[in-house]
Parts: sequence; C-alpha cells; structure tokens
Amino acid sequence: MKHTGGESHTYGKPTTLFVTAISIAALCALLLAQQKPASTAPQAPTTADKINITNAQRMVDQGRHIFRFDTFGSETLWGDALQLHKAIAGEENGGIGPGVSPKTALSVGLKVDVDALPADLVASLKAGKVNLDDPATTLALLKLNSVVGVTAFFDQPGKIKSMGIQCSFCHSTVDDSVAPGIGHRLDGWPNRDLNVGAIVSLAPNLKPFTDMLGVDETTVKKVFASWGPGCFDAELDKDGKGLRPDGKRACTLIPPAYGLAGVNLHTWTGFGSVPYWNAYVGIGEMHGVGTFFDARLNDAKQFPVSAKTGSWNVRGKPDQLTAKLPALHFYQLAIPAPAPPKGSFNAEAAARGRTTFEGKGKCATCHVPPLYTEPGNNLHAPAEVCVDSFQADRSPTHMYRTAPLGGLWSHQTRGFYHDGRFATLNDVVGHYESCMKLGLTDPEKADLAEFLKSLPAASQP
Ligand code: HEC
Ligand code: HEC
Repeated sequence: MKHTGGESHTYGKPTTLFVTAISIAALCALLLAQQKPASTAPQAPTTADKINITNAQRMVDQGRHIFRFDTFGSETLWGDALQLHKAIAGEENGGIGPGVSPKTALSVGLKVDVDALPADLVASLKAGKVNLDDPATTLALLKLNSVVGVTAFFDQPGKIKSMGIQCSFCHSTVDDSVAPGIGHRLDGWPNRDLNVGAIVSLAPNLKPFTDMLGVDETTVKKVFASWGPGCFDAELDKDGKGLRPDGKRACTLIPPAYGLAGVNLHTWTGFGSVPYWNAYVGIGEMHGVGTFFDARLNDAKQFPVSAKTGSWNVRGKPDQLTAKLPALHFYQLAIPAPAPPKGSFNAEAAARGRTTFEGKGKCATCHVPPLYTEPGNNLHAPAEVCVDSFQADRSPTHMYRTAPLGGLWSHQTRGFYHDGRFATLNDVVGHYESCMKLGLTDPEKADLAEFLKSLPAASQP
C-alpha cells in the first residue's frame, strides 16, 4: 500500500516537472523571439503597404512642388500692395526707379536655379557672356521661373504685373555649381545670404507696414535695415517689437527646414509643430490667402498688433494654403540634415568630442542623440542656457527650444543661437563652459566643436 501510495505520489511529480519544463521552454522561446524576430528578411509589401508607399511618394512630390513654387496667393502683398515687382523691373521696363540687376539680386542673397535655365544660357553664364548689370536680364530669369523662392506674373505682352514668394525664398539655397548664387537647389538649407530687410525696403509702397505697425516709413525702414543677411523677424507683425530694448536688431536667424523628423516643437522658441508654423508663416509672413488660427496670439499685452489687426484669426478666401499643409509637412520631414563633406572635420577629434558631449559636457541631457533635441517637450527657460529672455518672451512659450544639431556645418555663417550671438561653434562651447562651469580643458572644447561639425553622424539617416 505504502509502495502503491508512494507510486501514485511519484507519478504526480514527473507530470509537474514536465509541465514546468514546457512552460520554461515556452518562456525561453518567447524571450528569444523578442530578442530576435523569427525572420529578418524584408517582407514583400502587402496591398495596404503599397497604398502607403504610393501615398508617401505622392506627398513628397507634391510637397516639394509647394515648397518651391507655391505663393499661396502672396502676390496680393508683395506685388499688388507693395509693388515690389515695379522696383525690380525699373523704369526702362515699365516699372519704377533704376530696377534690380542680377548682380544686385545676387548681392542681396537671391539664388538662381540652374536647372530652370536652357543649356545655351548656362553656357553663356559660364563664359561670362550674360549682362548681369541689366534689370531686363533679371526679368528674363524671372520669366524662366529660375529665381529661387520668387514667382513673377506677366501679362500677355510679357510685362511684369505682380510677384509672390515661396518657402524656398528663405529655406533653400543653391550649390553654387555655376557661379556664386547660381546652381542646383538645396531645399531646407537656410539662406543665410538673403537680406530680406533690404529686399522689402525696395518696395515703392510700404504703407501696409506703416499701417500695421502704426509708425512712419523712416521707422519701418530702420527696422528692415537692422536685420541684415540671414535674419528675419517673424514676430514683428504680432507684437510690433521692431528692435530690442537695447536698440539691437530683433530678428532671428533663418533656421534649417531639414532634419526635422521626430522633433516635437519648432522655431527657436517652440511656437508649435511644423504644420502650425507653416500656416503661421504662410498667412502671417508671406501673406498668402487662407486660414490661420491661434487664440494665444489674441493677447493685447504680449501681442498688441495681432490683437488689434486680428492676425491671430485669419479666414482668407478662397483658402490657398490649408489643403497644402499635409504634403508640405511631409516634404519637410523627408529632407535629411545634409552629411558633412569628407575632410570637413577631424574624425579622431570628433570621436573624442562625442565622449565629452555625452559625458563631462552634459550636452546630451538636452541634445539627446540621435535627435539632438529632447523627445518630449523640448523647451528650456532662458536662464537654463544663460541667455536673456527677449526673444523667448515674444513666444507664447516664453522658452527656447533645444535646437536640433544635424547639419550645423552647413550653416556656419551669421552665427549660432536664435539671434546669431555666437559667431562660431567654439564660441558656443565657450558659452556653455562659462554658463555651466563644466571644467572642460581647451583640447576638450576644441574636440567638442569638431564633433558638432561632424553631425549628422554617418550612421544616422
Ligand atoms: C522671409 C523668410 C521666411 C519665409 C518666406 C519662410 N520662413 Fe520659415 N522661418 C523663417 C524664420 C526667420 C524662422 C524662425 C522663426 C522663429 O524662430 O521665430 C523660420 C522657421 C521655420 C521653421 C522651424 C524650423 C525649426 O528650427 O524647427 C520651419 C519648419 C519653417 N520655417 C518652414 C517654412 C515653410 C514651410 C515656409 C513656407 C510656408 C516658410 N518657412 C517660409 C523664415 C522664413
Ligand atoms: C539645458 C539644455 C541644454 C544643454 C545642457 C545644452 N544645450 Fe545646446 N541648446 C539648448 C537650447 C535651448 C538651445 C537654443 C538656444 C537659443 O537659440 O538661444 C541650444 C543651442 C545650441 C547650439 C546652437 C544651434 C544653432 O543652430 O544655432 C549648439 C551648437 C549647441 N546648443 C550645442 C551644445 C553643446 C555643445 C552643449 C554641451 C556643452 C549643449 N548644447 C548643452 C539647450 C541645451
């Protein structure tokens, strides 16, 4: 009996063990499966996948076209109201004044897209046989739709009758492959040569600005003259702050519109998302016709001008912007930060610099690789980075956004930080040293600057 009982007892045990063994094996299999997918081979796209891929391609194509060529109806301001096209044409071509020669246009940072020019013209340009002192040449270039970010409209006899601007006016440049300012387009690159203030000042009629700001023409011109190349004030039409209290310019540097995928808040002061900002600029700055709404800007204390003019709630008709925001958004997210050219930085120093960036320099706490901004609410109080709050206080956030750092090498002119206050990357590093008392040695600082020039890292998209 005892034996049998024992037997029955011992029968139970292996069963339990067996069950336990099975569940451990199952658990191991599950864990293994989590570490390593059953198959890493790419799967053939399903019908649903194909719809997404086709959509992505179409959005990029449409977005590129909008980014480069869509004025959103902004000719109502730039041409019809400001009459800027007349100043470009000059008296001899039915306009006003001396006109703008290609040489002058290039000197204020306008760029020419070589891919829009016929081959014989490119050959003549290369041979120096094109008259770059004649405004008629500028009109011919406009007719070819080759001036980056500017579209001119001509009547039947071929006389210029208006003009509008595009996103690419400020956020594209060219690779200078034909001559300085003439080459293939580089979308998303900030045009740090573009002197927006000098261009707008040419307008025969500045009344739209004097009316909006409630000041005289001399004051408006003084503000425009303060900006200089690569700088523009996208908040002037909301708060009317033409200059800082210390008398310095109040504009911000034109930032890149590349390397933005995965980044939460945009603009130097984190106004909002990419489509938020595109609507803000398309309506408020370019003066396209369409819809923009942001009740935060209906605040007579912080934004006296927009509270007065109603530019926080615009319902232009027919809306020429809203339907374009999805593709425009998509296109900007598709543009990667450009990789640094070979030999443009010292790779060994950059590797050492990375260690400092992620360690002793504490940079990576805010500039989290590989985004180089924080996943999440990527904003900081001005005091955290030891700068004044003037520009932050012109934003509903009162903060500065942790700038993403990919492609820094491609915009080293006009300085760094929102207003270009630091001339070089070495100066930026020096600022952090004095702000955060990091105890970095001179070689460590130099390595850090070299690392900044190396971004985006080769392994990144
Ligand atoms: C007249 C020049 C100008 C034009 C035209 C312009 N922008 Fe900008 N853009 C700027 C400036 C200056 C800023 C920075 C504003 C700020 O931080 O206050 C900016 C900011 C941005 C940002 C934020 C980038 C970042 O760092 O996250 C994006 C995206 C952008 N612009 C896209 C566009 C698009 C799309 C258009 C066309 C609808 C456009 N811009 C038209 C000058 C311009
Ligand atoms: C507390 C968060 C924080 C830390 C830590 C930090 N940064 Fe920044 N960084 C910012 C913010 C915010 C800005 C934008 C400031 C502005 O525009 O005025 C910025 C801007 C920059 C810029 C300018 C980018 C441009 O396009 O002009 C560089 C370069 C930079 N940081 C590098 C570094 C380095 C190197 C370190 C480490 C020594 C570092 N940062 C540490 C938050 C931080």
